[in-house]
Amino acid sequence: MITVTCIAPVNIAVIKYWGKRDEDLILPLNDSVSATLSTDHLCTKTTISTCASFTENRIVLNGKTESFENPRLLRCLQEIKKRVASSESGKKDILNWKVHVQTENNFPTAAGLASSASGYACLVYTLAHLYGIEKDEISSIARQGSGSACRSLYGGFVQWRKGDLLDGSDSIAVQLTAHDIWPEMRIVILVVNDTRKKTSSTSGMSTSVKTSKLLKYRTESCVPKHTRVLVTALNNKDFQTFGRITMQDSNQFHAVCLDTYPPCVYMNDVSHEIVNMVHQFNDLKNEIRVAYTFDAGPNACLYLLEKDVPELLAVVNRVFPNDKLGSPEYIKGISVDVNDLPEASESFSPNQNNLIKYIINTKVGEGPKRVI
Ligand code: DP6
Repeated sequence: MITVTCIAPVNIAVIKYWGKRDEDLILPLNDSVSATLSTDHLCTKTTISTCASFTENRIVLNGKTESFENPRLLRCLQEIKKRVASSESGKKDILNWKVHVQTENNFPTAAGLASSASGYACLVYTLAHLYGIEKDEISSIARQGSGSACRSLYGGFVQWRKGDLLDGSDSIAVQLTAHDIWPEMRIVILVVNDTRKKTSSTSGMSTSVKTSKLLKYRTESCVPKHTRVLVTALNNKDFQTFGRITMQDSNQFHAVCLDTYPPCVYMNDVSHEIVNMVHQFNDLKNEIRVAYTFDAGPNACLYLLEKDVPELLAVVNRVFPNDKLGSPEYIKGISVDVNDLPEASESFSPNQNNLIKYIINTKVGEGPKRVI
């Protein structure tokens, strides 16, 4: 029996992927850019075993056995096997053996954080190690599990190039910057209490492609420009421009969601309160110190520099008072002494208690790795 265990990170887009030109191959309408988060705080861990005596493929997700008859899962396995068959180094002799996959996230699925990106990245990365092709370009395979998964195969800031070819072979992720190029960058995730049932990204973006005229304008005219400006800002460590483009791109993505018919409403009242809080914070500083971005849900991902974390958390605690403040369960990730935070300005108005479930304080990370 051969067994391999790997971990893979979550990524948070600053230029959003929204809309496919090919639903089957998962080819996007536009480029996207994300930061890969540290696996210390958020990651998927996957163990895959293969053995001549296994009689069927199996997958256990967070302790629950799931069907292997999932087209995206089967596609990833099939594409990896094709790659092994045509490679010189791959272990072709074990290709016919069945696999047992066991995968879990170290963050609650209920947090509403995209687990498909780290999940499919981890699956494909672990399979690549199992069959001995780990150095090959595998992001185009992870992309066929979930589009955003291709970006989780690299550390630092990553661009998913949409590509132009019909077969999707040029729709791949590339690393823009190493994880330690901008070491002061921090990501603070505000997990918002929310019980509404929401439309999945896959079905939401499919409806947007069919019905939103704004999406066409976004993908053709805005994203190429946003991407160019953002990549230059990253290379110059220019937080002002990075923060502005990040917020504008998130706002435009949610405008497209509202322009979709029927509309996809992902942000809630608390999300909008967070937007107001961030603008008020930046106005008081006369410059952009914090940038928000929201995916297909109400949680906020805030990008900021390490030096501004204590003041931002002081403001979050004033605007969103919480009974659990001070418990390690409330602020997770990089540790923060809540008794040592500065005073927040009284110009910030408090909301009712406990609108935020918990906070994750994390940073940019190195990408997936093999652990066993
Ligand atoms: C809003 O990658 O989950 O998070 O390709 O259909 O699996 P599928 O969609 P998915 O969409 C992610 C959308 C997003 C933006 C982003 O991560 O770029």
